[in-house]
Amino acid sequence: MTVAILGLGNVGKGLAKRLAGKTELVLGARDVAAAEAFAKSVGVNVTDYAKAIAVADIVVLALPYAHALEVAKSGALNGKIVVDPTNPIKPDFSGLAIGHTTSAAEEIQALAKGAKVVKGYNTIFASLFDASTAATTSVPVFLAGDDAAAVDAVAEIVTKSGFAVERVGGLDGARLVEPLGMLNIRFGYGLGRGTAIAPNWLAVAA
Ligand SMILES: NC(=O)c1ccc[n+]([C@@H]2O[C@H](COP(=O)([O-])OP(=O)(O)OC[C@H]3O[C@@H](n4cnc5c(N)ncnc54)[C@H](OP(=O)(O)O)[C@@H]3O)[C@@H](O)[C@H]2O)c1
Repeated sequence: MTVAILGLGNVGKGLAKRLAGKTELVLGARDVAAAEAFAKSVGVNVTDYAKAIAVADIVVLALPYAHALEVAKSGALNGKIVVDPTNPIKPDFSGLAIGHTTSAAEEIQALAKGAKVVKGYNTIFASLFDASTAATTSVPVFLAGDDAAAVDAVAEIVTKSGFAVERVGGLDGARLVEPLGMLNIRFGYGLGRGTAIAPNWLAVAA
């Protein structure tokens, strides 16, 4: 499976560092020349978004939500497995811009006809990608998706990236996981706990 990571911000670079050498990988950037130094540092090719999508089986939209929607509606994601890590946060960080009756992942799916969208990584602060793999192997990446084979394929990538997998069912599970991402942000920033945190689900011995 070839993975394309679109957007070399905090999440894109972090995930690229985790996946380099673990799976076929290509990076997508708006300014390819400016991204060359990072790409070289991880030993992965970088190209523009369209070319990266074209060679990929799995496309990670490591983009602000609004720009993930732009890529989704371009038609380029047809037939691809798409990983959506976005948190559709209001510009003032006061909460989520959408939710309850839809989610970022479902809005992306609605525009990306023929793609198989899987919610994933939205509760993982980018700083965790720089932690040791040993520190994150039991940290869950919550996955929600309607296509079981697509979720399985993304689960394999999650494992290769050094995290655990927590399946939350169909894509409407993103309505639950996105508020969890917002709670994580509130803990991390609003309540001062920092970004070396992540939500987990405990089995409690009764
Ligand atoms: N940061 C976190 O800890 C974290 C954690 C979980 C989820 N998320 C979510 O993951 C997504 C990416 O977050 P991030 O922190 O990596 O964001 P970021 O650092 O701002 O990077 C986003 C990247 O998107 C690309 N991009 C494409 N169109 C853009 C535009 N018009 N304006 C700005 N950037 C544009 C840029 O990459 P190129 O220039 O290379 O194309 C940019 O570096 C967001 O939806 C966020 O909610 C973030």
